[in-house]
Amino acid sequence: MDKIIVEGGRLLTGDVHIGGAKNAALPILVSALLADGPSTYDNVPGLQDIISVVNLLTHLGVEVRREGNRVTIDGAGLSNHEAPYDLVRKMRASILVLGPLTARLKKARVSLPGGCAIGARPINLHLKGLAQMGAKIDLQHGYVEASADRLRGAEIYFDTPTVTGTENLMMAAVLADGVTVLRNVAREPEVVALADALNSMGSQAAGAGTSVLTITGVEALRPAQVSIIPDRIEAGTFLVAAALTRGDVTICDCDPAHLVATIDKLRMVGADVQINGNRVRIQGPDRINSVDIKTQPYPGFPTDMQAQFMVLMSVACGLSVISETIFENRFIHVSELRRLGADVRVSGNAAVVRGCAKLSGAPVMATDLRASASLILAGLVAEGTTEVNRVYHLDRGYEAIEEKFSGLGAAIRRIR
Ligand code: EPU
Repeated sequence: MDKIIVEGGRLLTGDVHIGGAKNAALPILVSALLADGPSTYDNVPGLQDIISVVNLLTHLGVEVRREGNRVTIDGAGLSNHEAPYDLVRKMRASILVLGPLTARLKKARVSLPGGCAIGARPINLHLKGLAQMGAKIDLQHGYVEASADRLRGAEIYFDTPTVTGTENLMMAAVLADGVTVLRNVAREPEVVALADALNSMGSQAAGAGTSVLTITGVEALRPAQVSIIPDRIEAGTFLVAAALTRGDVTICDCDPAHLVATIDKLRMVGADVQINGNRVRIQGPDRINSVDIKTQPYPGFPTDMQAQFMVLMSVACGLSVISETIFENRFIHVSELRRLGADVRVSGNAAVVRGCAKLSGAPVMATDLRASASLILAGLVAEGTTEVNRVYHLDRGYEAIEEKFSGLGAAIRRIR
């Protein structure tokens, strides 16, 4: 298994290009199932999760071609309504096929994703919504089976905003009979990107980016031609890396409007952040101030940036309280960061970080994507060598991370 070796203490400087957003690409590639014909997607990142979704779509009978960052998917071949356990367990987001399969093939059989390292992650709200749209739902042998002759529009309220839940029901509603109103939906940029992609296929979805989405069903959709939005979490990860190493880095090809919460915190930490079009330049502070963080649904501070900020707070001056309100078990990086010398105590959904620690390199491993990213960041400022194991988590969500950090001057390499 690959590992990444980081020698700490280098200042990061220069430009880094941000790729397409994993969490926008996944639902948008799945939305190709809704049209009879070839859809084309550009700026698709080269990630393990993209390989997983391509394998799933191929299994469903559609033809997928990949040339560099362009992916073409011909939804005409859609014939199989089953997403098996072996494919779903590799990537939870596979549950996104449930809505489109039910809408197009009138039935779906999708393995239940189960929990994962960061929490139980139920899909009850996906299922409740589909049932309200008239689908018959059965849970059998670890699979969810949904069927409906034609889904019908419904008024659906989400107890809590869910990103993939919103996306799944949007893709069910676009071909439903009548109007679907989704209330208390997720407002993440990835949800807006999916709505834009669907509308470019002829759907009528209004309100994306607000908490109420109104979708008027249509008879059929046409193929799409879409460019995937930049990855705000990859961008945020590089911004934190620059602040941590007191570097001077320009993040290129990002969308600063999606980074408001992250940039606000970085400025409070003392970093100088300048926005110029689709570029963000950050100059790290001499003294890193501590700030409190509370993760929240967008436009609040993203849970996917919590682990990276914890590293920053572990070398800041002062005490920081980090509250995780989205996932119940998203502090798995804490024990590994402690092995590097971070002073972090967890009580319930809060972590208290006593900063000003000098981190020292060690072998570490993590069981989730963003936790792995935080360990790379810690390695960049730790004294000596940090060896990050189980790199496959990183490869799910960061394209060529070691090459991008090397380009900024980090001493980092992958051992295969
Ligand atoms: N929830 C329910 N019932 C449901 C669905 C969700 O109770 O039916 C709860 C969850 O347990 C959680 C909260 O709602 O407490 C929010 O979860 P959400 O459904 O929004 O998460 P998700 O859609 O499974 C996406 C991203 C995650 C990101 C979260 C939160 C994708 C493919 N994944 O997950 O990304 O952390 O939203 O923003 O879009 C990552 O990229 O590393 C990652 C984990």
